Amino acid sequence: MKNQMPIIEALKRHVNRKATSWHVPGHKNGEIVADLPDFFRWDKTELAGLDDFHHPTEAILEAKGLLREVYDSEDSHFLVNGSTSGNWAMLAAVTRRGDCVYVQRNSHKSIFNALEWLGLNPIFLSPEYDEATQIAGHVSRETLQEALSLYPGGVAVFLTSPSYYGETAAIEELVALTRHYELPLLVDEAHGAHFGEAFGIRSAFEYGATAVVQSAHKTLPALTMGAWIHERLTDTQRRRLKHALQSFQTSSPSYLIMASLDYARYHREQWTVDEMRAIETSHRLFRNELNELEGMRAIVFDDWSRLILSYEGYSGEQLLNALANEKLDAEFALGSFVVCILPLYVVTKRVRKQWMKQVNDAVVKLKLKGIPSKRYIEQPIMGKIKVSSLACPLNQLEEKGHIILPLREAIGQVSLETVIPYPPGIPVLLRGERVTTEHVVSIEHHIAASVHLQGGESLQEGTLRVIEEGFVE
Ligand SMILES: Cc1ncc(COP(=O)(O)O)c(C=O)c1O
Repeated sequence: MKNQMPIIEALKRHVNRKATSWHVPGHKNGEIVADLPDFFRWDKTELAGLDDFHHPTEAILEAKGLLREVYDSEDSHFLVNGSTSGNWAMLAAVTRRGDCVYVQRNSHKSIFNALEWLGLNPIFLSPEYDEATQIAGHVSRETLQEALSLYPGGVAVFLTSPSYYGETAAIEELVALTRHYELPLLVDEAHGAHFGEAFGIRSAFEYGATAVVQSAHKTLPALTMGAWIHERLTDTQRRRLKHALQSFQTSSPSYLIMASLDYARYHREQWTVDEMRAIETSHRLFRNELNELEGMRAIVFDDWSRLILSYEGYSGEQLLNALANEKLDAEFALGSFVVCILPLYVVTKRVRKQWMKQVNDAVVKLKLKGIPSKRYIEQPIMGKIKVSSLACPLNQLEEKGHIILPLREAIGQVSLETVIPYPPGIPVLLRGERVTTEHVVSIEHHIAASVHLQGGESLQEGTLRVIEEGFVE
């Protein structure tokens, strides 16, 4: 069972026929791009023998079955449009237009987009904020309980775990609470496709979450956009999920992505506990070596493959760029930190020595550049408020008049713009939220640290579009 890769096998059979392409895609089995890599040959469409992505009955169904077995799910679904489409579909499966949903405030932008277009009313749950590391963590049981008491009547809870930093939520107790209230718990586990027995951290799905999305492409050997959902939904919800997946995903699914998902599942199944422990040990040795470097701090939260680096006196952005100049491309920088997603293989002594040389060169050159910049500090978005709702419902925003104000003057007004630092894609300010000092300080910090911001049409000029006073009830 472990050695099967049904989609890859079907593709191999198909490619080996060496048939002439009288069908899409336009590269014709890669023949008209012969000087480019071989992968074009594998980019197929839904021909006989290759099954149908949205109505699978052959290889794709078989591959889905294997995935289901790994997670012991009632059903699992391949996604070719990333966890983004999975987040949309999971929400659509358990809600109806106008419903209220409890949502983690530092969620990925895909969830906020889905809330708006699906016509839902969010109640925001603020994550805990760690003063020592200045990193936003997870929603506590107490915060969820407070939201359920203050705003009864919601139909689902949507949380994110692990965080971009590799910190996991206390999913077990959150599952218990949502079960008590008979609410489905959806979890965006985009960064946890590698979780499971061998890795040593259990998936939120194993803890009993109702539906979980994982971006296999982020931490498993799958192509970008390859993701999957595992669920234990009701029959009606599952029907809605499948309908949503057909609606939100392409009608021309990429076989390259599907094949890579088949491979990622197979690859993950080969892992043994011993192998993972050996990899973990080699990562720890590398971390120890990094921590011996003066000024360098290398830590992990729960996910031991996610290394968080900081270098005293310098911003994460500066460290990220210094590492990139030495050909070490880390995932992203936020605040004082650089997040690195290390490869899941044993980092040998030779490789560690090479990496340490590159890191050393990076910090030596960083120091030669002179004056460290002002340290950037991640700001808690909601201050001390743990539970909040929007100041203006999303479906009424467009009916309001607007005015453009300098950022500081926008405090107290209702924003018509969402501002998203990218990466990681977690909005600092949302459309419909009343602008607070915390929002503005956070936006100013992001601008000062030259973080790329999405949204906010005129932020570069220091202004924000808000509802014109008088329009707010
Ligand atoms: C927490 C989280 N959820 C969802 C997504 C979207 O995933 P995808 O890129 O697979 O669509 C991301 C992407 O960065 C993410 O970080």
